[in-house]
Amino acid sequence: MHDTTVHSVSGQLERRLVTPVQEWRIEHEMDSDGLVISIVSERGEYHSFLIGLLDAQDIGEVLRTKGLPGSVHDEAWRLDTNETAGNALDALLSRRSVSPKRLQAPGPTRGELETLLQAGLRAPDHGRLHPWRIIEFPAGCREHLAQVFEAEKLRRDPLSSSRDRQLAREHALRAPALLAFVVCPRTRSKVPMREQWLCAGAALGNILNAAHQMGYGAIMLSGERCFDPIFMRTLGLVQDEFLAGFISIGSIKTPAPAAETAPPSAVWSIWPDFTDEPRQDWHRATLDPRA
Ligand SMILES: Cc1cc2nc3c(=O)[nH]c(=O)nc-3n(C[C@H](O)[C@H](O)[C@H](O)COP(=O)(O)O)c2cc1C
Repeated sequence: MHDTTVHSVSGQLERRLVTPVQEWRIEHEMDSDGLVISIVSERGEYHSFLIGLLDAQDIGEVLRTKGLPGSVHDEAWRLDTNETAGNALDALLSRRSVSPKRLQAPGPTRGELETLLQAGLRAPDHGRLHPWRIIEFPAGCREHLAQVFEAEKLRRDPLSSSRDRQLAREHALRAPALLAFVVCPRTRSKVPMREQWLCAGAALGNILNAAHQMGYGAIMLSGERCFDPIFMRTLGLVQDEFLAGFISIGSIKTPAPAAETAPPSAVWSIWPDFTDEPRQDWHRATLDPRA
């Protein structure tokens, strides 16, 4: 135990006696009313609790009322949470897409894939509809998938060269982990379609960010095959579902080259401070020499 300064849940800086918790995570979101948290104390003791969402506003209070042994303190939770938040922000500000050519084995484990999906399910979701799903393509099915990719290429371009068809096959084979990302808006829901699409996009972002935070490289790629009805049916999509693309995930063999990110001003206006000047289009102004 040692003395340190932490942010309390109210955001105040406080001097606290803390004991680090080795590991903590939200294990499983049950439904809108509760979730399961698990922790491993410094002494290696494992504890798991089902708690109500309201209680979750103050994890420390929950741990106190659950009578946890002395080695794990609410303060430690708060400290850990702060550190995690800091790392998460660094990760958000540094994510890059990493092309499949730059990836190598190993890909994420089953447990890590589950965590990626939990991150996706954390995205803002009007009506909790989760209007998206993923299809995993394990190693054992990749050769079959490569045939499906090749057949689609041939359908789209009957004159395609064997090199082109080989490239199509490689898209199915290359990434250590490959997931199709399917948007499935709930057409009978009152939640507007556009909000469901935004939710799916946010979930996709969370998955890519979580993969980056785990240290993996990842990228979302679509391509014309995602619009082919036969291809979609072969992957198991049904009516009203959209194949948004494929997420490739793996360990990074060669990092992606540095890329410029648009400054906040590219997406920022302050109402009602309009001028007569049209808003500067950063992308065109910086990237298109004719603009
Ligand atoms: C739904 C979706 C589909 C995409 N499909 C492609 C694609 O087919 N080809 C491509 O070059 N980039 C595609 N991208 C963009 C890349 O995933 C990536 O975001 C882009 O190259 C910018 O790199 P960055 O993520 O490092 O900023 C797609 C992105 C999204 C969100």
